[in-house]
Amino acid sequence: MLRTGEGKRDGSSAMLTRRAAIVGLGASLAAPALLSLPRRPAAKPLLTPPTVSTPPAIHDVTLEAKARRLKLLGKDGPESTLWTYGDALFPILRLKRGDRLRATLKNSLTEHTSIHWHGVRVPNDMDGVQYVTQKPVEPGESFTYDFTLPDTGTFFFHPHCNETGQVGHGLLGVVIVAGDESETFDDEVVIIAKDWRLAEDGSFLPFSTDSGAARAGTFGTLRTANGAKSFTRKVPAAADLRLRLLNLDATRMMDVGVEGAEARIIAIDGNPVEAMPLDTWRMGAASRLDLVLRTPKAGGKVRLRDYFPAEIFDLAELEAEGPDRRAGPFDPAPLYASQVPEPDLARAEAQSFVFGAASDAIASFIDTLDPDDPLTKVILDDLCTASRTFWAINKRSWPNDGHRNLPPPLARLKPGESYRFTLQNATPHPHPIHLHGHTFKVLGSSKRKLPVHYADTVLVLPKERIEIAFVAAAGKWMFHCHILEHLETGMMGYFANA
Ligand code: C2O
Ligand code: CU
Repeated sequence: MLRTGEGKRDGSSAMLTRRAAIVGLGASLAAPALLSLPRRPAAKPLLTPPTVSTPPAIHDVTLEAKARRLKLLGKDGPESTLWTYGDALFPILRLKRGDRLRATLKNSLTEHTSIHWHGVRVPNDMDGVQYVTQKPVEPGESFTYDFTLPDTGTFFFHPHCNETGQVGHGLLGVVIVAGDESETFDDEVVIIAKDWRLAEDGSFLPFSTDSGAARAGTFGTLRTANGAKSFTRKVPAAADLRLRLLNLDATRMMDVGVEGAEARIIAIDGNPVEAMPLDTWRMGAASRLDLVLRTPKAGGKVRLRDYFPAEIFDLAELEAEGPDRRAGPFDPAPLYASQVPEPDLARAEAQSFVFGAASDAIASFIDTLDPDDPLTKVILDDLCTASRTFWAINKRSWPNDGHRNLPPPLARLKPGESYRFTLQNATPHPHPIHLHGHTFKVLGSSKRKLPVHYADTVLVLPKERIEIAFVAAAGKWMFHCHILEHLETGMMGYFANA
């Protein structure tokens, strides 16, 4: 289906019927009116995955976080000093469900770091959050992450302290866990969208600004896909192509669509869904989307586009070549379902979380500090930069630099019990909300028709309420907005066990 960009900017609001909008605005918290899409009768259900019988493979990898000189501004442009996990930008680790990853982070930076495995249901001590689940990995030190991959999908990894700076310099990698395909696709393309805050001489501009942090975030000056200003690739003709798209920008929201090919959504945040035709799909920072599309005949072009900005941005241009791979209608086989624990909605405990501006949060946090603890002074000194705390969850702001002395958890959850959370955005900006260590079920929205699906990050638009449900895992798990400046200026908290 070939489409023009006409009217695309409003693609997702167009999906919202007038009645739906009225229901959404008028509904009270006590009786949430949820909109969700009914299952498409024609959709083929996901398949039950086969049991893994071969012994799991062990993958030993070393990820050296280090400054490296690379060119982002074109072949003739200046070099930039990026921080990367390997000699190339964005390493991709490919494993199979059930495999074991032993990844040694070697810190060759001049500041401490760690690795968080975004979306992967790891044991809590492998979650990579400095001061919460592990000690910081200091310069010159190493730390080995060792865990089994329970779910198939498209995941990523990044540091969890000074995120604007470390991710801003390029510290990102991808984890692809295979095993969800019941029939193999003909080819696969991975697209990593990330902007850079670069000056013309190739040096970095400040990653965070007060004006950005207090609003929708500080945007980059250079948009890239896979580190290129315009990413192109040859693909086989008349083929079923899997496309894995990751929005790894610190800030950006995208409305993604495909022109030049019929496309279906097959996974969200790596979790298989019954194939849905792609119109446009809105992706906040940290979201991933897996598509399958039927490429055109040789010479034909497919564009993966972001319709959100005033000027459409092409994330990729794929050109078909060679003999046709397939004849007949486009009818991709369903994926194997993931095996995420299913929340028991009838018994789930309901809680609600309001994402808002920082208020008297600092004062209430200070009340929790022990005046005899020498760290209190350090934390208070940090908090004197109060202009840098803009955001809060349930009126509580994460202390800017107070990780050494953990604030109390947002809530205590019982491992194995089901919870149903209402996420409510009380600000004029969208917030992509991420829960560590869990894959939650998105039940619906007060504003948009969303399919019921599993995710680890969900975009909550201004004035929107989103309902999620999940089975709590053991440990301390971070819960935050994935606009990196928002989590650094207060919109973060964690859950501990009851
Ligand atoms: Cu990608 Cu704390 O998250
Ligand atoms: Cu946010």
